[in-house]
Amino acid sequence: MDKSALKTIFSSKVDTWATPQAFFDKLNQTYTFTLDPCASAKNAKCASYYTKEDNSLYKDWGGHSVFMNPPYGRGIGEWLKKAYEEGQKENTSVVCLIPSRTDTKYFHNYCMKSDLLYFVKGRLKFGDSKNSAPFPSMIVVFNGANSGMPFVGTIGAA
Ligand SMILES: C[S@@+](CC[C@H](N)C(=O)[O-])C[C@H]1O[C@@H](n2cnc3c(N)ncnc32)[C@H](O)[C@@H]1O
Repeated sequence: MDKSALKTIFSSKVDTWATPQAFFDKLNQTYTFTLDPCASAKNAKCASYYTKEDNSLYKDWGGHSVFMNPPYGRGIGEWLKKAYEEGQKENTSVVCLIPSRTDTKYFHNYCMKSDLLYFVKGRLKFGDSKNSAPFPSMIVVFNGANSGMPFVGTIGAA
């Protein structure tokens, strides 16, 4: 794939790149997810899901074990805010797969207030792509433990 194709795929206009199934399965073994709040009928990872038309930002995620791979455009901060707020609810955890950009407002405002932070070792291959993403990823978990600082670890891409 040439550089311009990669640029288009990962631009803010394209928000449908699916989590690699094996990577999702690895996390699912621990979290047994019950809600995918950022999905379409074609790419939903859970039986319960919300689509763009539903607009998940205005839905209640309470009581769920949530797996969130949001659109990676400029609005990503809104998704982290929502994940943080929902993760404070009783019996609710929100696991987010997002680009690892430690210089961003969303990282400092929300990820630093998370309960667990796993930096992905290696690069993920989103969707059916044979190419690795041109950016690193991280897993951020909000589960209301409110321990002050996140526990930090690593997780393999494969
Ligand atoms: C990066 S994809 C994730 C797909 C799939 N859930 C996965 O993890 O493989 C993000 C999905 O969120 C959907 N989406 C965009 N805006 C949304 C919104 N406001 N509410 C719910 N879903 C939305 C997109 O249509 C897209 O299917």
